[in-house]
Amino acid sequence: MPHPAPAAPSAPQASPPAADSGPDNPDSGRWPSSPTLREAQALATAAGLPVLEARMLLGHLTGYSRTQLITRDDEALTPARREALAALVARRLAGEPMAYLLGEREFFGRVFRVTPDVLIPRPDTEIAVEAALARLHGRARPHLLDMGTGSGILALTLALERPDAEVWATDVSPAALAVAQDNAARLGAGNVRFLRSDWYAALPEAVRFDLIISNPPYIAAADPHLVQGDLRFEPVDALTDHGDGLGDLRTIAAGAPARLAPGGWLLVEHGYDQGEAARGLLAAAGFVEISTARDLGGNERCSGGRLAT
Ligand SMILES: C[S@@+](CC[C@H](N)C(=O)[O-])C[C@H]1O[C@@H](n2cnc3c(N)ncnc32)[C@H](O)[C@@H]1O
Repeated sequence: MPHPAPAAPSAPQASPPAADSGPDNPDSGRWPSSPTLREAQALATAAGLPVLEARMLLGHLTGYSRTQLITRDDEALTPARREALAALVARRLAGEPMAYLLGEREFFGRVFRVTPDVLIPRPDTEIAVEAALARLHGRARPHLLDMGTGSGILALTLALERPDAEVWATDVSPAALAVAQDNAARLGAGNVRFLRSDWYAALPEAVRFDLIISNPPYIAAADPHLVQGDLRFEPVDALTDHGDGLGDLRTIAAGAPARLAPGGWLLVEHGYDQGEAARGLLAAAGFVEISTARDLGGNERCSGGRLAT
């Protein structure tokens, strides 16, 4: 889960002009019906989009690379694509995240499909992947569990980086699980099984894991960031535990020992200011070798511990 401060993970926000004002507003009907690519980019930027975002939307609509957008910039957009571009520009100016407009986001070098049913993958979550891979080093055919898988970035990245692993991916949201399953098919991850589960509830009692990883909802219900920026568009149940922000971390830490093999690891992503609390939860649950990884900004991001053998 992303914590919005201090390292805001959001895509850059354009400053939206008033929704139905301004000569360049895409909804004003003043765009030519078949602008060239060069003109379309200029229209989108005049409406308020940064150049990079205008290019990304044009690339998305045409299938052209950045180079092709430049070398073919005198090609005309069809009226249908002009309409589609105008609609995307208007949605972006209203604050909708680029990842939802493009329908994808890169994570750990792979492109994942994303929809408004799932959290947008954040670069900070790569820290959890690296922490997991380091702990799995030298362990053959590990059994892994990713709880609250969302788009599947943790489960699928680990499954693809460690093809010998058997990975379980769970989420309480059927819509999120469908996106994760689609990503598994697209990325060719055949070593992942998906299960709808409220944290540990639907997991078979007898299954034991070598590593459990989770990026749970950890924003406190009262945090004002929930109604700001990109977060306004993301599934609220992926963002907050509807309490103090530590509720799901408590459930995950307390339940992990019963699901881990002896010596198994639990890794949880958390907010920049929740490191101490997360380490406390891991210690209270009986974990040892507890440590916290920091992001590039020096903020505590991912804590883990080992179950005593
Ligand atoms: C912060 S998102 C993380 C998504 C993805 N793992 C990532 O890192 O981008 C938290 C996920 O936990 C799921 N979730 C929320 N409550 C849950 C629960 N009680 N049991 C299982 N999953 C839950 C949400 O549906 C959401 O997909």
